[in-house]
Amino acid sequence: MTDHLVVFTPSGRRGRFESGTTVLEAARRLGVDIDSVCGGRGICGRCQIEVSEGEHAKHAIVSAASHLSPVSEVERAYDADRGLAAGRRLGCTACVAGELVIDVPPESQVHRQVVRKEADAHPIEVNPVVRLHYVDVEEPDLATMSSDLSRLRAALEREWELSGLECDAHVLPGLQKTLRAGGWRVTVAVHDSAVITGVWPGLHETMLGIAFDIGSTTVAGHLCDLASGDVLASAGEMNPQIRFGEDLMSRVSYVMMNPGSEKELTRAVRGCLAKLTAELANDAGVSRDDILEITLVGNPIMHHLLLGLDPTELGGAPFALAIDEAVRRPATELGLPVHPGARAYVLPCIAGHVGADTAGVILSEGPYLGDEVNLIVDVGTNAEIVLGNRDQLLAASSPTGPAFEGAQISCGQRAAPGAIERVRIDPLTLEPRYRVIGSDIWSDDPAFAGTHVTGVCGSGIIEAIAELHLSGILTTDGTIDGALAARSPRIVADGRTFSYVLSDGEPELTITQNDVRQIQLAKAALHAGCTLLLERYGIERVDRIRLAGAFGNHIDPVYALVLGLIPDCDPAHVTSAGNAAGTGARIALLDRFARSEIEEVVRRVEKIETAVEPRFQELFVGAMAIPHDTDPYDRLRTVVTLPPRRVADAGESRARRRSRPDSTQRSPA
Ligand code: FES
Repeated sequence: MTDHLVVFTPSGRRGRFESGTTVLEAARRLGVDIDSVCGGRGICGRCQIEVSEGEHAKHAIVSAASHLSPVSEVERAYDADRGLAAGRRLGCTACVAGELVIDVPPESQVHRQVVRKEADAHPIEVNPVVRLHYVDVEEPDLATMSSDLSRLRAALEREWELSGLECDAHVLPGLQKTLRAGGWRVTVAVHDSAVITGVWPGLHETMLGIAFDIGSTTVAGHLCDLASGDVLASAGEMNPQIRFGEDLMSRVSYVMMNPGSEKELTRAVRGCLAKLTAELANDAGVSRDDILEITLVGNPIMHHLLLGLDPTELGGAPFALAIDEAVRRPATELGLPVHPGARAYVLPCIAGHVGADTAGVILSEGPYLGDEVNLIVDVGTNAEIVLGNRDQLLAASSPTGPAFEGAQISCGQRAAPGAIERVRIDPLTLEPRYRVIGSDIWSDDPAFAGTHVTGVCGSGIIEAIAELHLSGILTTDGTIDGALAARSPRIVADGRTFSYVLSDGEPELTITQNDVRQIQLAKAALHAGCTLLLERYGIERVDRIRLAGAFGNHIDPVYALVLGLIPDCDPAHVTSAGNAAGTGARIALLDRFARSEIEEVVRRVEKIETAVEPRFQELFVGAMAIPHDTDPYDRLRTVVTLPPRRVADAGESRARRRSRPDSTQRSPA
C-alpha cells in the first residue's frame, strides 16, 4: 500500500500514513489531540477537521480535499441530522488517500485554549477533569454470567483504555435500566480517569460546570461548558451571611458568641450557592443534571464556613486554618442541586489571612510563570498582596478595613447607580465636577441636571482625595487646608477641622477630615504591606502592578498612585486584573492540570504575617503621607505634576498619628 505525508495544523506534527487510515487514527498516532465522545462512530461530531487546500511549499506537498476518501454515508447521515459546515469532514470516518495538510479547528481540539478578554491575561487550557465516553456494552448472556457493571467496565477498557474504574454508589440503582434503555449503548461520565460518576442512555454530550467566587459581600457564579470552555451564564447574589455581620470579623464574633451558630452561616452560604445554581441553569436554558463539576474560591473565613468548619480560630493570632490543602467533595454534600455524581473542588488556602481566593488570583495571574516581578493587590476589606515571579513568591494580607468599600466614610456607599465614581477638581477655582455610576455625563454638563446622586463609592473617594491633593487643598500629611476657605466656599469649617463640599445637592456630600483620615489609614496599611513584601524580596521597585477585585477593576491607576495606595510604579504598568479570584476558579474548573499546578505553587508561597511584624508599623507611619513621606514617587511624576510637599501644623499631625490601626484587631481574610 502507498503511504502519504499528512501534516496537522496548528501543531505542525507530520507523519506518513497508508491509504485508508482515518484522520482520527493518524492524529492519535502523532499525538495530535482531536476530540471524540462517541469513539469514532460518526455521531458526536467532535472530530471535525478541514483540509487546507493548495501547494504547501514548506512541506513540499500539494494538499487537496480530494486526497481524503469520498464523503461517507455516516457523514451524510450526520450532516442530515445535525449539519456539517461546508469543507468540514468527520475525522473518524474520512480516510487518508493522498498528501494532506489537515487543519484541526479549535472546537475539535481536546486541549483547546480559551482566549481571555483581559489584555495581559494568558489563555485558559480546556482540559476538564471529567470526560464523557460513549461505549457499546456487550449484552448479558448465560455463558459468561458477568454483571452489567463488569461489562460496562470492560467496554470502557476496550474502547477508551480506562481500567480499574470505581463506580459511584448512586450510579448502580439506575444502571440496568439505563443500559437497556440505550440499547446497550450508553455515555459514561468518568471523573479523573478513575471513577464512573454518571451513565446516560445513548449519546449524551453536555457536561457543564460552575466556578463560584464566595466573597464576604457578594457570591458570584459562572456556568461553563466543560467541553468548549465557554461561559454560558454568570450571576451574582448578596452573601446572605451579611445578616450575621456586615464584615468578616463580626461574623466570626457572632460564631464566638453563639456557639454552634457556624451551622447557620454554613446553611446560609450553601443556600445562596444552591439558589445561584438554579438561576444559572435557568438563565442558560440547561438542565442542572448536566452540571458535573464545581469549583470554589473564597477567603479563609468563607472557605471554612462553606465547608462547615468553625472559623473561630481565624479570629485571632496565630490565625490557624483547620485545613489549607485543596478540598474535594461530592457537590451534593455542599447542598448543591446538581448531578448526583458532580464533584466540588475548593482551591487551597495559603495562610490564615490569605485564602483560596488568593490562590485563585495567583492561578489567574500566573506570576510564578515569568521572570518579571509582579505585585498583585486584591483590594477588599482586607487587601491580599502577592509579590514575586518564577523564583520566589511572597504573600501577605493587610488590614485595610472597609473604607475602600465606602464604609466609615461620611458620604460613602457601595458601588451602585447614583454613586459618584469619578471626580475632578479645578486647581484654580477649586470647583469639583464628577460622574456617577450609570451615567457618562459629567456634573458640569447641563444634561447632568436631574441625575440622582446618592453618595460616593470607593473609587470615587480615592479620586476625590487624590484630586484634593493635586489641587492643593489637601496637604502632604492629609490635612484639608482651612486657609483656602477664603478662596472657595466649598471648604467649610467642621469643628476644629475643615471639610470639602463635593456635591451641594440633596443629599449634600462632603469629604470630611475624618473621611480623609480613614482613607489614609486604609491606604497606609496597604502600602506598608506592599513595601514589607518588597523589602523581604530585596527590591525597591516592581515591574508591574495588577489591581484585582471589583474595587481594583474600577480604580484609576494614576489616582491609586497619587494617593500612595500602592508603591511607585510606571503608571502604564499598573493595570486591572479584573475578577482574578473568580477567573482562577474558572481555570481550575476547566483545566485539571491547573489544579495540581496551584496546589504545588501555594506550597512554595512564603507567608508574611503583617500583624506580628514590627517593621509593618514603621512602614505604616511613612505611608500615611500623600503619596508618601519619604518616597518621591519619581515614576508617577513622569506623567503627573505633584504639588509641592506641604504639611499642617504639628498639633494636627500628632492628632492624626494617634489614629494608627491596631494590627492585632484586624479583620482576617
Ligand atoms: S469521533 Fe464522534 S463523530 Fe467522529
